[in-house]
Amino acid sequence: MTQQLRKESLRPQPSETLDPESWDEIRAQGHRMLDDMIDYVADIRARPVWQPIPTSVRAEFRKALPRQGSELGEAYREFTDFVLPYATGNVHPGFMGWVHGGGSAVGMLAEMLAAGLNANLGGRDHMPIEVERQVVDWTREMFGFPSTASGLFVTGTSMANLMAVLVARTATLGRLSRRHGIGNAGALMTAYTSKAAHGCVTRAMDIAGFGSDALRCIGVDGAHRIDVAALRAQIACDREAGLRPFLVVGSAGTVDIGAIDDLAALAQLCREEELWFHVDGAFGALGVLAPSLAPLLAGIEQADSIALDFHKWGQVPYDAGFLLVRDGERHREAFAAPAAYLRRETRGLAANSPWPCDLGPDLSRGFRALKTWFTLKTYGTEKLGAIIARTCALAGYLEARILAEPRLELMAPVNLNIVCFRYRAADHVSDQLNADIVADLHESGIAAPSSTMIDGRLAIRAAIVNHRTDVEDIDALIAAVLNFGAGVTAPSLQPGD
Ligand SMILES: Cc1ncc(COP(=O)(O)O)c(C=O)c1O
Repeated sequence: MTQQLRKESLRPQPSETLDPESWDEIRAQGHRMLDDMIDYVADIRARPVWQPIPTSVRAEFRKALPRQGSELGEAYREFTDFVLPYATGNVHPGFMGWVHGGGSAVGMLAEMLAAGLNANLGGRDHMPIEVERQVVDWTREMFGFPSTASGLFVTGTSMANLMAVLVARTATLGRLSRRHGIGNAGALMTAYTSKAAHGCVTRAMDIAGFGSDALRCIGVDGAHRIDVAALRAQIACDREAGLRPFLVVGSAGTVDIGAIDDLAALAQLCREEELWFHVDGAFGALGVLAPSLAPLLAGIEQADSIALDFHKWGQVPYDAGFLLVRDGERHREAFAAPAAYLRRETRGLAANSPWPCDLGPDLSRGFRALKTWFTLKTYGTEKLGAIIARTCALAGYLEARILAEPRLELMAPVNLNIVCFRYRAADHVSDQLNADIVADLHESGIAAPSSTMIDGRLAIRAAIVNHRTDVEDIDALIAAVLNFGAGVTAPSLQPGD
């Protein structure tokens, strides 16, 4: 084959690239999708919070691998018919389950821009990396961390907590532990958190190779805050037994009731005991943006590392977890690994070291920073802080309504934005009745709280995180709980009843 012929045969045919034959058609389709999603968010109140997935709809997503493509419009129709109506529901103001942020239209648009750029933020010299660095700087500023602190977007706080354990490990055992493993020295290492800490802290210890037994779960006081005296005693006891304490994980907002440990006391104890002080601030850490809540977090600025989620109280669309480490060098020591194919240069696209891949396990990374940058830039921290404070005020309103209603019982103090309560019933039926009420609420589409166990008893748990949640949503929750508790069946209730 002549060179000319070979060149001709390699010219892309329309069927050989993924670009559309008609950009106008895809533009029109794209505008339709954008309009539809803006309508979806704008009109979200008209929808149920959540609805069960019909078997026929689930079956639509059990089909064989498509060998031949189909029209984009057809795939989009399947999305609108089968996916969109059966989403989690956390965009809806009636969603109060677990700790889910509501997202925003701004974040949604930023996600589209990020997908268009298709940037890989593992490293290299391009502006998306500078956007992430800007958000790292802003996050440092939020927590009063020094300019030498480093930060990184990750999936969520589960990952950020795991990475913090790994940074604390390397800081304690030295860089060589990354080659040799934690070995006998590591087998003696112990970490500390409270009984109210999130389960991902235990998993982090397990995944990091210390084993979950190496995590001491210390008792809490009546407000679910770690008992600092008991912590001190446990550390002394472990040292006495020849163990090597290395890490304390404080909670800034426990998952069950939003308790904040005495972070200043933990910082002081860690300084005295020479332990790494990590704060799980999954949702609570961003309370620093609300002047009324910031004093509750006093001491967080002394942490060695903080894990937090912009996708919770920060209202950034999923996912946007973040790890902040006071000593950036320690952070790099835990993860950086040279590789010939990742050679750094002083100019060209391979410049701009250190790269984010030096700060975590991921090499390929998406542009999570953009939706966070847009959110911070568009709304500003004052407005985000005011929204955070308002979710707490709404929790206070829910608490007051519960206290004024003899058929309801408040199950735990309301520290921030989480309210645990239940419908009063005889002990032997109460857990089941309240679990049923939660499922009825979900299936009615009126509200979506979750449940948890408080002192061995099942509680309905409402975590008000969404910036759209309003007084009417709280009223609808209360009315529906009272109805379902009294045996009114779900289908007869409509949102707003
Ligand atoms: C206190 C706390 N820690 C950790 C997590 C886990 O965060 P993620 O779901 O982002 O991994 C959560 C989630 O709600 C949480 O509330």
